[in-house]
Amino acid sequence: MKVLGIETSCDETAAAVVEDGYKLLSNVVASSMDLHAQYGGVVPEIAARSHIEAILPVIHEALDAAKCTWDDIDAIAVTYGAGLGGSLLIGVMTARTLAIAHGKPLYGINHVQAHVYANFLTETALPGYKLLAKPPTFPLLAIIVSGGHSSLALFRDHFDYTLLGKTQDDAIGEAFDKVAKMLGLPYPGGPSVSKAAEKGDPNRYKLPKAQVNKYDFSFSGLKTAVLRLGQKEIRESYDFPSIKLPERLSDAQKHDIAASFQRTAIETIVDKAKLAYEEFNPKSVVIAGGVAANKELRHQLTEALPLPLEYPDLKLCTDNGAMVASLGCFKVLNKQKLADPYTLTTNPNLSM
Ligand code: KG4
Ligand code: ZN
Repeated sequence: MKVLGIETSCDETAAAVVEDGYKLLSNVVASSMDLHAQYGGVVPEIAARSHIEAILPVIHEALDAAKCTWDDIDAIAVTYGAGLGGSLLIGVMTARTLAIAHGKPLYGINHVQAHVYANFLTETALPGYKLLAKPPTFPLLAIIVSGGHSSLALFRDHFDYTLLGKTQDDAIGEAFDKVAKMLGLPYPGGPSVSKAAEKGDPNRYKLPKAQVNKYDFSFSGLKTAVLRLGQKEIRESYDFPSIKLPERLSDAQKHDIAASFQRTAIETIVDKAKLAYEEFNPKSVVIAGGVAANKELRHQLTEALPLPLEYPDLKLCTDNGAMVASLGCFKVLNKQKLADPYTLTTNPNLSM
């Protein structure tokens, strides 16, 4: 059984074909990231326009790479939320049209849930992919950390899960992106902050951790604390514009701020993951979302948890169509509800 997955929730136009939930047949991603870099963040209108241009070539490439024609595809799965409204719309309208034109069943996919399913991909003939040796087993603790989400979820089985907690404001990836901007580091901020952090002292500055409910997160205070720290370091008051910070901070200060921020942000996630592990005793722990690429997160989690941690390939951690197609396969296998190709709408604020 083969499912075509379509993902356009942010700045990646992505499509992939997955067989039976675990076998990756193709994975094509066109990113408009370069167009956003000059603005220091994703510009929704530019992202939506790029999706319009890229979506059909990306889908055709995904089918070709998987050596599939439409006859080989059993269903179409598309992200309908959460994400940017204009971006989601392009993927959903395309998927609806293709489902009607080719007479295929259509499944609406929750983007955050899909991130977890990158961990179920365990087989591929595609070169350059490092996949998990075997799929995770239930109960499964999922640590979902991306530019839009910071959540902990406990899956008892496919489609039987509890959201233990989520961010009350900014996601951790967004905090990395904003801190990068304050330090004059390139977008996307995650990789550039962690690169700068390698040269810095993670214990140089003490930054605050938000006091929120047991498994919830909050990163907006930490972001502000980094701004105040930068202003204090150059002996300016709180109204000094963040945009001018990079030219006043020395490289050494930037490295130490990046390292101290990263340690604090990652510790927040790891502390709560450890707490959840101890309370629920899961058989597997998986990391999902773009921040899963963070080496400090992988290092701290390995130290904190008693079970060996495996990670999906980086190309499957950031937004992609394969995770959408994998979840789509499990929806088919578990007889989940179909979407109506004539009425499926986007839900930019969809929660898990
Ligand atoms: O999952 P993703 O591709 O998009 C969303 O669904 O949000 O995640 C992108 C986020 C960005 O905020 C990016 O800065 C962050 O993941 N990221 C990282 C790293 N690589 C990407 N954050 C920390 N460390 C990294 N190495
Ligand atoms: Zn994502």
